[in-house]
Amino acid sequence: MTTRRNFLNDLGVLASVMATPALWPALALAQEKLPRRGIPGTNDSLPVIGLGNSNAFRQGDVPASTALIKLFHERGGAYIDCMGSSRFIVSEAASKLNIGNELFLGTYFMNDEEDVMRENIQRLLEITGKKRLDLVQAYPEFAVSNWQMFRRWKDDGLTRYIGIARHRSSYYETMLKLMETGTVDFLQVNYSPLETEADQQILPMAMDKGVAVTINRPFINGDYFSRVRGHELPDWAADFDCGSWAQFSLKFILSHPAVNCVLTETANPDHALDNIGAGFGRLPDEDTRQRIVKHLQSL
Ligand SMILES: NC(=O)c1ccc[n+]([C@@H]2O[C@H](COP(=O)([O-])OP(=O)(O)OC[C@H]3O[C@@H](n4cnc5c(N)ncnc54)[C@H](OP(=O)(O)O)[C@@H]3O)[C@@H](O)[C@H]2O)c1
Repeated sequence: MTTRRNFLNDLGVLASVMATPALWPALALAQEKLPRRGIPGTNDSLPVIGLGNSNAFRQGDVPASTALIKLFHERGGAYIDCMGSSRFIVSEAASKLNIGNELFLGTYFMNDEEDVMRENIQRLLEITGKKRLDLVQAYPEFAVSNWQMFRRWKDDGLTRYIGIARHRSSYYETMLKLMETGTVDFLQVNYSPLETEADQQILPMAMDKGVAVTINRPFINGDYFSRVRGHELPDWAADFDCGSWAQFSLKFILSHPAVNCVLTETANPDHALDNIGAGFGRLPDEDTRQRIVKHLQSL
């Protein structure tokens, strides 16, 4: 029963949370599911924060993977990027949690033998209970010579979407050429306040061609944290509801209009919650985005 004292205590907690901008995302997190953004040309959508190919998946740690996926799913997360044996670990965890159909798996197929790849697709469908895979993707160099095969898989109903995924500007030229064909559904590319090259050509073309975009390397595989370590988050980060250095990068990325979802890699549940928190609240405007880049360059 809520007594007057409890109610006043609750109000006190709420007041102190409201007075601490860093806690606002946590407040939203306790109540809401991650916001979603539409996949161009469809009625489908994706939550704005995704999970990368976590060490928990790579090491085949099913209990840790299951706990991470449960936490992520409970807060509205869906996209998980997974390749090799990780995709089977993720699928088994999803099946255990009975959420195989609710997750959106971005899986990679880059084995030369089509028969082997088709067998793996069937295995994933059986484990997850999905009728079709969500997203089959490949590195651009493999995609160039195998794109007709991927298109056939889509036509055959093995996957809903096909895409290309890589993490360096040296791949952009091939990615641009593939997107020119108008048949790429998803582009995954590196982008963050310390790696902004994608906003020159590749992100504008994705918007122009109606390609959904996921972002990798939001923390430059951890190097970002070496850059900001020992520095205080600037006061003005509170103006866009940013409560941590991780959210400082993620909110910059999410404020680009081409972006559907950022893939964050972690095996640490506290870090996963921090990252999910970036999906809530305000985002930086154009002036603030430039201020974020300059600020990081100055550290
Ligand atoms: N297709 C491709 O060519 C390609 C290439 C690169 C990446 N990717 C995809 O993109 C995903 C992400 O990119 P990435 O591998 O470069 O990793 P990332 O997400 O940029 O960085 C991961 C690092 O950041 C740390 N971290 C994560 N959240 C944190 C937080 N809130 N606070 C402090 N530290 C935090 C992690 O450590 P902890 O584990 O301790 O949290 C880990 O060391 C990958 O998992 C993969 O799925 C694809």
